[in-house]
Amino acid sequence: MRKPIIGGNWKMNRGTPKESKEMLIDFVPLIKNVINVEVVIAPPFTGLISAYEIIKDTNVKLGAQNMYYEEKGAFTGEISPQFLKEIGVEYIILGHSERRNIFNESDVIVNKKLKKALMIGLKPIVCIGEHLEERETGRTKDVIENQMMGSFKDLTRDQMIQTVIAYEPIWAIGTGKTATPEQAEEIHMFIRELISQKYNQETADSVRIQYGGSIKPQNAEILFSKENIDGGLVGGASLQSESLAEIVQAAEKSIQ
Ligand code: PGA
Repeated sequence: MRKPIIGGNWKMNRGTPKESKEMLIDFVPLIKNVINVEVVIAPPFTGLISAYEIIKDTNVKLGAQNMYYEEKGAFTGEISPQFLKEIGVEYIILGHSERRNIFNESDVIVNKKLKKALMIGLKPIVCIGEHLEERETGRTKDVIENQMMGSFKDLTRDQMIQTVIAYEPIWAIGTGKTATPEQAEEIHMFIRELISQKYNQETADSVRIQYGGSIKPQNAEILFSKENIDGGLVGGASLQSESLAEIVQAAEKSIQ
C-alpha cells in the first residue's frame, strides 16, 4: 500500500520567516488528525528555519525547492544539500519544470542532484512532464520516457523506491487547466510500466507518483481516487492553509 504524499510548493510566492510561520500556525491544527497521508511543505530557503520551528513536532514535514549537487565549496549562490539537512529539511523537490525551463536544468543535472540527495539522505521528489505542444503532437510518452531515462539514470532499485515522482504536465501548472483524471492516470500508469520494465513489478508498485498542475480542493478528490495517483504537488492552492488542508483531507479520503 503506497502512502499518498501531498507537497505544498510555495515557489517564490511566500517565504519570509514571518509569512512562513503565520501560514503554518494556521495550517498545522487543520490537519493534525491526518495519519494516512504524508504532508510536506516547501518554502523558499529564507522560510525554512522558521517553518521548521512550527512543524518540527507535528505530522508536517519540511521540504526545499532546490539544492546543488556538491556539498561544499566555491559555488557562489548555490545551496548545499548537507546544509539543508542540518536545518531539518527532509524532502527535496528536484527538476521542477520551472527549474528546467527558466534555469536550463537538464536531465543530466537533475540526475546528479538526485544521486547526491539520496546519498545525503534527503528524500527526493523529482518532477517530469510535457509541454502543451508535445502533448498536442502526440509526443507525451516519448518525452516522459526520455526524462525518466535521463533523470533516473543509474539509480539502484532501492534508490528508485525512495524517490517520489511528480508528474506535472507543464500546460497544467499555474494555468487553472488541470489534466483530466483519465489523462493523468494514463501517464501515471505509463510511468509505472517504465519502472517495472527497468526494475520489476514490485519496485513499480512501491514508487509513489504524485500528480501536479492546478490541483484545487474541487478537483483533488477525483484525481486522488485514481489507482496510480498517490497524492499531489500543489503550487497555488498551497499558499492558503484552508485550501491546502482540504486537499490533504481529500488524499486521506482516497485511501479509505
Ligand atoms: P500549481 O503548481 O498547483 O500552481 O499549478 C504546481 C507545481 O508547479 O508544482
